[in-house]
Amino acid sequence: MALDNGIYIPNLCALRDKPEPAAACRLCFVEVEGKEQPVTACTETVTEGMVVNTRGAKALKLARTGLELLIASHPVDCAYCPANRSCELQVMARHLGVKLKSKRFRKLLHELPIDDSNPLFIYNPNKCVLCGRCVWVCRERLGIGAFGFAHRGFERVVTTFGDEPMGKYDCPDCGECISVCPTGALAFKDGKGTKIKTGVESGSDDGKLQSA
Ligand code: SF4
Ligand code: SF4
Ligand code: FES
Repeated sequence: MALDNGIYIPNLCALRDKPEPAAACRLCFVEVEGKEQPVTACTETVTEGMVVNTRGAKALKLARTGLELLIASHPVDCAYCPANRSCELQVMARHLGVKLKSKRFRKLLHELPIDDSNPLFIYNPNKCVLCGRCVWVCRERLGIGAFGFAHRGFERVVTTFGDEPMGKYDCPDCGECISVCPTGALAFKDGKGTKIKTGVESGSDDGKLQSA
């Protein structure tokens, strides 16, 4: 509802046609009138007369911390990244007033090999934010299921079944996963193609929403 009304709420794991929110990224906090603590917007059911503030101080503080934790394990080399200027981390950082080079948390980076075995795209797992959009789109929207999550904790990664190179997998090269990826983790080799905008950039909205 917020995005449809031009009000941006930071988000990574949500997709408009995904019925069950994963609520994995913990970035979409909002404040709902009558509730003491912020809630995740993607899991909150809209009710009649509900008043939502997307710019409440408590909600923004939680979202900022979430983003800073995320970029503590993200290689921020935007100038050389295929997602530069279409990256949702950049949009979110601007919206929340967070520096992508923030040093609030100790940097702990993955050093995983980049997979360029597919003729169409490159997969850089070091830039994956584990939002799960590509996994869901490939499995649920397209019925293919080329990849999924493996391992736990810091080792958690998106990979193919059997951890085979992307190029070895029977992928129709539709590019859907690339279009929903919010970062430079999945990118077209020719630098073309579009990333969908799941949210609008913060503009002149006052962050207030009221349902009818
Ligand atoms: S994925 Fe986004 S934040 Fe990360 S390096 Fe690329 S443009 Fe920068
Ligand atoms: S590859 Fe992209 S879309 Fe897939 S989980 Fe990682 S960041 Fe999300
Ligand atoms: S979009 Fe709500 S938790 Fe990720």
